[in-house]
Amino acid sequence: MEIKLLFLSTLVLLVCCIARNNFDHFLLVQTWPHGYCERIQRNCSIRNYFVIHGLWPVTAKGKAFLSGKRKRVNVSDTIGRGNLFKDMQYYWPGLTKKDLNLWKDQWFAHGSDSPLVPLDYFQRTIQLRKLVDLVKALRDVGIVPRYKGFTHHKSTYRQGIMKITGHNNTILKCYSSKRGHLLSEVMLCVDADARNFIDCNPEEFQQQNCGPDILF
Ligand SMILES: *[C@@H]1O[C@H](CO)[C@@H](O)[C@H](O)[C@H]1NC(C)=O
Ligand SMILES: *[C@@H]1O[C@H](CO)[C@@H](O)[C@H](O)[C@H]1NC(C)=O
Ligand SMILES: *[C@@H]1O[C@H](CO)[C@@H](O)[C@H](O)[C@H]1NC(C)=O
Repeated sequence: MEIKLLFLSTLVLLVCCIARNNFDHFLLVQTWPHGYCERIQRNCSIRNYFVIHGLWPVTAKGKAFLSGKRKRVNVSDTIGRGNLFKDMQYYWPGLTKKDLNLWKDQWFAHGSDSPLVPLDYFQRTIQLRKLVDLVKALRDVGIVPRYKGFTHHKSTYRQGIMKITGHNNTILKCYSSKRGHLLSEVMLCVDADARNFIDCNPEEFQQQNCGPDILF
């Protein structure tokens, strides 16, 4: 009887915790180079648009999903030299390292933990990025870059981004500088197929570290 109970509770524990650590969806993580480069304080290849940091597989609660099956691939081979390569140079540049090294690192640390094969991983990330022009979305609600010193409330950022994703799903990350909270990254929740934006779970908002008022 006791052994049976022990067995059952172990089983319940296993099922609960394996399920909790399952792959659930992705985060499309984009960097705002002005905020990021101010933090980095070394040669940083600034751009005036949001660049891709990566597409990260996560659990239902938004924690990194670790498959235990990370694997390197020849990323140059995967990407080739055609349109995908050109798109990646534009949308997914390495701000502080060689583009190819960023792509290799992101594939290894995130992509290879996901169910996607390398080509799909890179192609879908680019397709998702092309759906969202965040600079334009923010401009539409009156948030204009390079007017540092002006802050906007985080709900205004969310409102602008919601208009283009259709979801109130924005996780904002800031760099706390002497001047205040500077926007450095925007994370959008994406379905498990890496094709559509979805709502983030409430727990995921805990990753936010911006104050109420954010510099752009
Ligand atoms: C930054 O870039 C400039 C020009 O490319 C170079 O001369 C300088 O050594 C670089 N500094 C660092 C810290 O890498
Ligand atoms: C990766 O693929 C490229 C292009 O096909 C090739 O030139 C390179 O040698 C390969 N790298 C490795 C480490 O196999
Ligand atoms: C969006 O989310 C914020 C908090 O995360 C909430 O205050 C706001 O009411 C939401 N807006 C909509 C339209 O759902």
